[in-house]
Amino acid sequence: MRSAGGWCAGTRVAATVVRTRPTPGEDPMTSTIDGPPESRSPGISRRSALRGLALGGATVAVAGTGLLSYRVYDSAVLDPGGGPAHEPWREWRDIPGPRGAVAAAVLAASPHNTQPWDFVVTGDGIDLYADPARGTGSVDPFDRERYVGLGCALENLVLGCGPRGLRPTPTLLPDGPGGLRVAHVGLAPAAPSTDPLHDVIDRRHTNRGPYRPVPVPPAALAALAGPGETGGNLQWIADPGPRAELGRLLVDAAEALCADEQQSLDNFAWFRAGNDDEQRHRDGLVLDGQGLGPLELGIAKLLPPYSRTAGDRFWIDRTRDVHTATAAAYGVITTATPDDRRAQLEAGRLLQRIHLRATAAGIALQHMNQVTERIDREASTGARATFAPRFAALLPPGAHPLLTFRVGYPVREARPTPRRSVAMVTR
Ligand SMILES: Cc1cc2nc3c(=O)[nH]c(=O)nc-3n(C[C@H](O)[C@H](O)[C@H](O)COP(=O)(O)O)c2cc1C
Repeated sequence: MRSAGGWCAGTRVAATVVRTRPTPGEDPMTSTIDGPPESRSPGISRRSALRGLALGGATVAVAGTGLLSYRVYDSAVLDPGGGPAHEPWREWRDIPGPRGAVAAAVLAASPHNTQPWDFVVTGDGIDLYADPARGTGSVDPFDRERYVGLGCALENLVLGCGPRGLRPTPTLLPDGPGGLRVAHVGLAPAAPSTDPLHDVIDRRHTNRGPYRPVPVPPAALAALAGPGETGGNLQWIADPGPRAELGRLLVDAAEALCADEQQSLDNFAWFRAGNDDEQRHRDGLVLDGQGLGPLELGIAKLLPPYSRTAGDRFWIDRTRDVHTATAAAYGVITTATPDDRRAQLEAGRLLQRIHLRATAAGIALQHMNQVTERIDREASTGARATFAPRFAALLPPGAHPLLTFRVGYPVREARPTPRRSVAMVTR
């Protein structure tokens, strides 16, 4: 969740989420953390767990008022991942034909889980449309991330065809770069085929939890996007020095984004504060997607929703103490033409493939785009460019960063987030 200012949907994440940070200068990849796997999580220290339990006890004390039972119901503590908002994850495999390919597409990643798509199943294929109402405003002033999200959906759509006996032929931007129709996927009958990436579509989730303090071997990183890949150039930032520098840049960008009231407000608009909200909208950022441990998550769900500013604070802390502190490596997809819609769609397809390959290999991935969001915000407001030169210093000359993510071996699995159904997004 990008919380009230970031991606931490933990609008109500408690002060219980406090990490024991590596000491200054310590490399989290080589530091040792004692305890069994779950308590080893950098996301929760023993002291914070005790505080959490005390908080839980205090909450139980008000059970007699009926408040707790309402909160348990409202936050779906007893039924995580349940309800109609999660049905698309359970049903997609059994939906045949073109609608089954759309069912695969809706499970793709999208910025803030905006799901900025619409589909039309035609006589000869499927049209993918952009939904201009589903944007993040000042967070994505040039709509780059929206088009990347559409590219992610297109990749899943194409992957969804083979196992359903369909041969896909995608055409990008058939009405030109200004058209709302961003792709036409022609379909022809074919013998059903299998695809290992298709098989993991429902296991791919953005993992915002802590990653284990071990490196991802260079060969495993290289296998995520091989030399034959199109859709942008992928740079890995894995050496301790550049990795720490990008970590600092990400924390600084999170702080700058939260200090920018409009960006903070536009983030907050996609927060879903409780289960009711989540089931009604079936989109946006939710607590289940924040990579919290079971205890943290249960407590966070029972607390009243956080304010925007408290959520912003939580996101900044989480970026510093968990996301960047436990990143084994960062991937950056760069392009020579960051304003080109086709390049954005292709980069989205590449991003989705990388995430699916990572899933199949047991590698966790979290998108982290606050630096490019600040670069675009500075450009769109005419402010002095402060983030662009710092990011450029970490990249080859002339490479424009489009997408950033971290990878590592996860402490815990990520959870599914809400989705609108095929019927809701198909005209
Ligand atoms: C273009 C793009 C940008 C994103 N940027 C971020 C980000 O900066 N931080 C983050 O935590 N997640 C980010 N995400 C991940 C989305 O929030 C996530 O895909 C969405 O909430 C759905 O969750 P899922 O990926 O687990 O299915 C991004 C996703 C896309 C496609």
